[in-house]
Amino acid sequence: MPPMKRAPAKPKNMGKTVGRIFQYLSAHLGLFLVVIAAIIASSGLQVVGSYLLKPTIDNFITPLVSDPQNQELMSGFVMILVRMALVYIASGALVWLYARLMIFISTDALFRIRSDLFRKMEKLPIPFFDKHTHGELMSLYTNDVDAIRDMLSNSIANLISAVVTVVGYFVAMVMTSWILTLLVLCMLVVIMFVIKIVGGKSAKFFVKQQAALGKVNGFVEEMIEGQKVVKVFCHEEKTKMDFEKLNDDLCHAATNAHTFANILMPIMNNISHISYAIVAIAGAILAINSETFLLGSLVTFLTYSRNFTRPFGQMSQQINSILTALAGAERIFAVIDETPEEDNGYVTLVNAEYRDGVLCETDHRTGIWAWKHPHHDGTLTYTEVKGKVEFDHVTFGYVPEKTVLHDISLYAKPGQKISFVGSTGAGKTTITNLINRFYDVPDGKIRYDGININKIKKADLRRSLSMVLQDSHLFSGTVLDNIRYGRLDATDEECIAAAKLANADSFIRHLPDGYQTELEGDGSNLSQGQVQLLAIARAAVADPPVLILDEATSSIDTRTESLIEKGMDQLMNGRTVFVIAHRLSTVRNSHAIMVLENGVIIERGDHDSLIAQRGKYYQLYTGMFELS
Ligand SMILES: Nc1ncnc2c1ncn2[C@@H]1O[C@H](COP(=O)(O)OP(=O)(O)O)[C@@H](O)[C@H]1O
Ligand SMILES: [Mg+2]
Repeated sequence: MPPMKRAPAKPKNMGKTVGRIFQYLSAHLGLFLVVIAAIIASSGLQVVGSYLLKPTIDNFITPLVSDPQNQELMSGFVMILVRMALVYIASGALVWLYARLMIFISTDALFRIRSDLFRKMEKLPIPFFDKHTHGELMSLYTNDVDAIRDMLSNSIANLISAVVTVVGYFVAMVMTSWILTLLVLCMLVVIMFVIKIVGGKSAKFFVKQQAALGKVNGFVEEMIEGQKVVKVFCHEEKTKMDFEKLNDDLCHAATNAHTFANILMPIMNNISHISYAIVAIAGAILAINSETFLLGSLVTFLTYSRNFTRPFGQMSQQINSILTALAGAERIFAVIDETPEEDNGYVTLVNAEYRDGVLCETDHRTGIWAWKHPHHDGTLTYTEVKGKVEFDHVTFGYVPEKTVLHDISLYAKPGQKISFVGSTGAGKTTITNLINRFYDVPDGKIRYDGININKIKKADLRRSLSMVLQDSHLFSGTVLDNIRYGRLDATDEECIAAAKLANADSFIRHLPDGYQTELEGDGSNLSQGQVQLLAIARAAVADPPVLILDEATSSIDTRTESLIEKGMDQLMNGRTVFVIAHRLSTVRNSHAIMVLENGVIIERGDHDSLIAQRGKYYQLYTGMFELS
């Protein structure tokens, strides 16, 4: 698996992405406005709190120092202290309020983002998954969602509060002394300059760190998946060395990134101490020579200037985290905006029964199925599902540059067993991928019971076909659940009957909890052959008119295989089966065998006629050629 692309790309269309996130927040628009108001109010109250410092000093403390016995002054002093305390308590309460509300709003928004993402993922066509790696898709749910959470629950509030504080203190500073304000602004320019230089360096290394982290993660993921292969080829040492190298790169990048980030804070602190001292000296000179600029003004101004410059250090960090989150959100929205698997099908699958010799739709399961075909003139026709499959000169490639199937024509009568044999990569699986429309072919090329498959609703088409895929997947859950996956309304008895048919019953009964045995990750506590038996049982329980078995019995011994075949013959009586098999003994009794080579059917016929032809099949059968 290639390493994940995790470099914090700048969002491409910031406005649009912000709008989209806002849409998710707007479900709680009222609360969100309360949050914004609370953020502004709490930061405003902080400014007001420091503003009260000036009257406290000038009107009460300074006079009280010279006249400590003055009761009136004393009670006024207590009053103003109480007011100050109330202002700070109110501000603190507002911070608590908006933090709580924002957590509620953001977790709810993230819940909906995740669920939209997953719902869309379930609707995406197979080619989408060909183009995106597992790691890439996983990181949408982990890294990108986390980045958005971080932005919503921290960065936004911090940024708004920073802006309000900066503006508030700036106004307060100007009102107190514009000369000193100018001085503070000069110092600020110096601070910004340092942030730009040091911060820029650190940002560069942060990008490197992210890329190195992605590589390390990708490598670890790949090695966990391939652990057995690593051991088989004794590649542990080599793997360790490769990992050391990547880990080293990560360490180097992280050291640089954090060194610059960490020296930024001390540098900033020192500069701001120096600037504090300079402003204090200038302010003292001013206070000594001025009638209006008193000690209180000086103390409050120093507090203002401190609070005014503080947010600048954090702001760049907040902006970075917002940019990272927006880039992540953009990746998530890109997937949400992907075109879902198209389905223009209007022919549907319904239960049917014959009444006086006429095929009619019914609402209960009869074992007979019909294609319900609405026509332009408003009439409906019903065609019984028989399982007749035709390929009419189908040419197909996954990518335009490479044609995989060349001019394939075939005709499977209902109830026939059609087999495909041919070397690996010949295109056998591709043919089955087309029948169930994992990939699309032009109109009219593939017909099912005489109906162009592009007209059939995909879900109904797939419901009428059961497939045992070459790479069967089992889900976590019990054995019984996994069999029932084939048809959710199947009873336990039907599932067990299907297992018997697939000859899986005897091994299942030997599992610790029989049918209730919990399967672990993708059936890792079963043998490959047992997984295949369960997959066959799952397909059998669906009881479809067409069954496709793609190398379904390749890991099963020949005796079990022939037992399954007998069971299947019963089940598939009067239905169509496509079999892709490695073992030629399996395909012997097929009605038709197609020999595929490089996407071309080079021979076709039943076993006897193919043997008589003395072509490729004959060579394969008599062992002159091995299937590779
Ligand atoms: N998802 C895919 N994207 C692109 N090419 C593919 C894909 N799946 C298979 N192919 C290519 O199509 C050809 C036929 O593959 P397949 O039908 O799986 O062969 P097989 O006969 O072994 O089942 C191979 O050359 C393979 O590389
Ligand atoms: Mg295959």
